[in-house]
Amino acid sequence: MKFTRPMANPPLFLVFLGPPGSGKGTQARLLHERIGLPHVSTGDLFRHHLKNNTPLGLLARQYMDRGELVPDGVTVDMVADRLAQSDAACGAILDGFPRNLAQVVALEAMLADRGGVSLAPLFAVSDEEVMRRITGRRTCRLCGAIYHIEFNPPKQPGVCDADGGELYQRDDDRPETVEKRLYVYYKQTAPLIGYYFAKGVLAEIDGTQPPEAVQAALLQVLTDRGLLARMPVPAAVTG
Ligand code: AP5
Repeated sequence: MKFTRPMANPPLFLVFLGPPGSGKGTQARLLHERIGLPHVSTGDLFRHHLKNNTPLGLLARQYMDRGELVPDGVTVDMVADRLAQSDAACGAILDGFPRNLAQVVALEAMLADRGGVSLAPLFAVSDEEVMRRITGRRTCRLCGAIYHIEFNPPKQPGVCDADGGELYQRDDDRPETVEKRLYVYYKQTAPLIGYYFAKGVLAEIDGTQPPEAVQAALLQVLTDRGLLARMPVPAAVTG
């Protein structure tokens, strides 16, 4: 679907926060489908580089396989390039970036003349739920659609409903790597919650509800803060 947005609106940047497996990617995809704001996932960008065997992909793999953060320099450059693309003129859903305070500072600089971050939804789930979700996650090799063997199974096991692509389990979804990713999250990313709270843009959302209910809660927050009106709307609706 083609999207347009009213010209006078400032860009809208959303920073999705939450531990690994909290549903950031699932919610970002649903929101993108609904309102057309680009979904920028640093994990997906690294996985794309990895699939294409680029130097960045090979570098990122060493860190991702260990559940550690890829170095800030290459990560920030990759995001800056992505946000400079024309579709991000209206803003973006940032999923997995920033992930530490250095990346927060870099993002502030990138958005200095673009209005900054408007909302940082935090998808709250327990560590036990994270483990259940991540070990059952399956992802489509072709379109990146996210499934769960129990909570959101495909119609045919191992096959994407949307395009018939093969569903695979991510290399970094092994239990020992997930434990390391959780450790890194609490040490490096969780401090961002206080930062965005102090900025007045944090919104905690109960991430343990079914995906559609989480999306409804997110849309409610966006509406309550007057942000939904700033988002792109389908061209068919605007004429
Ligand atoms: P990344 O790909 O960003 O992984 P992550 O942040 O750990 O998050 P996940 O993708 O694991 O989970 P999610 O919250 O998106 O949940 P999902 O929707 O898939 O990063 C991977 C690696 O890349 C990092 O470890 C690091 O090495 C590197 N990296 C990335 N960004 C970086 C950065 N900025 N700096 C440096 N390095 C970086 O859902 C999970 C499962 O739960 C699915 O199966 C889904 O179907 C299911 N599910 C979702 N919602 C629900 C629900 N409400 N109820 C039941 N099940 C649900």
